[in-house]
Amino acid sequence: MKQIIFATNNAHKLGEVQAVLGDEFRLVTLAECGITEDIPETAATLEGNALQKARYVHERTGRDCFADDTGLEVDALGGEPGVRSARYATDGHDDEANKRLLLERMQGVEARGAQFRTAIALIIGGKEYLFEGIVRGNITLEEQGNGGFGYDPLFVAEGCEQSFAEISAEEKNEISHRGRAVRKLAEFLQEL
Ligand code: IMP
Repeated sequence: MKQIIFATNNAHKLGEVQAVLGDEFRLVTLAECGITEDIPETAATLEGNALQKARYVHERTGRDCFADDTGLEVDALGGEPGVRSARYATDGHDDEANKRLLLERMQGVEARGAQFRTAIALIIGGKEYLFEGIVRGNITLEEQGNGGFGYDPLFVAEGCEQSFAEISAEEKNEISHRGRAVRKLAEFLQEL
């Protein structure tokens, strides 16, 4: 089984990505590589942050690795919160405050189109590659469902009636931004 480091401390993401990559790859966590500190994410774009995280891990471990960065891009807010999705309401990573702020900003807004976008940066054999996944949808009027994480209760994908917090992890992976980006990564890795 091939091993690759996934630069995240988010157990939800780890589970989602491992499910898409399947048995051929074992994801190695940051904790397993002895990286316990927060990795800086100070770039101006999702791609920049993903590369910054992957480079940080590669410099310290010398091993193949990938990192992702995701943003919720809301049309009526000019693409906000975008790269600032994690720290939208506060400097900490407060999902509840972020969701409240988004609903506040969207109060009275009729055109509720949005997209989740994931950028993945892979460093393998010392070379860098980028992959992208997008899912279009709409921002709900209020929270719907208790599953998932982050902004999931506020997002209904195109063609769906339930929010990302109301569908199973398998269903979410099928259509989600991260699922799409990870399948591109998986195809690339399988062709190596
Ligand atoms: P990051 O990719 O971990 O930096 O995520 C940025 C922000 O987007 C955080 O607030 C996450 O909670 C949120 N986020 C990332 N992926 C998802 C998702 O699949 N569903 C809902 N929120 C997400």
